Amino acid sequence: MKKIQVNSSATVFDNLSELSKEEFDLMNHAIEARKKAYAPYSKFNVGAALLLNNGKIITGNNQENAAYPSGMCAERVAIWKAGSEYPNMTVKKIAITAASSEIVVSKPVGPCGACRQTLSEYEINQKQPIEIIFMGEVGQIIKTESLLSLLPFSFDSSYL
Ligand code: THU
Repeated sequence: MKKIQVNSSATVFDNLSELSKEEFDLMNHAIEARKKAYAPYSKFNVGAALLLNNGKIITGNNQENAAYPSGMCAERVAIWKAGSEYPNMTVKKIAITAASSEIVVSKPVGPCGACRQTLSEYEINQKQPIEIIFMGEVGQIIKTESLLSLLPFSFDSSYL
């Protein structure tokens, strides 16, 4: 028996002005996408913006439904939109932001487990890490260097 160490590191920014111009711009696209979310049930609006290697920015937001499980997260709306439009794309970075009409979201909101799983397949296939930059509506911003750093011991096609 032995214990192993599973490490992941992140960079914490105190405000948007600390981001690079590229990431500031990407986060602003996520903020604009967030404002168009359809989240009448949770009132928790999420926006995501992907920067592709070809320079294109693809956005998505959460889309809810009266039959609750039929809704979809912003990150998966965005990645599937990108994958369907640009099947050979490489994703450089994803910016994510969330805001609620009920509370002030000041903790950085990372992608949920199902979104991490979905995004991991794209990162593995493209053989290039996807940087993830996430925040609430206000407060600190977190950046991780890859998706898989958020998903240790993940499941992938090699198990099948
Ligand atoms: N949501 C996202 O869009 N992304 C996440 O990573 C977490 C949750 C959405 C789903 C639902 O519409 C609302 O936030 C509340 O869970």
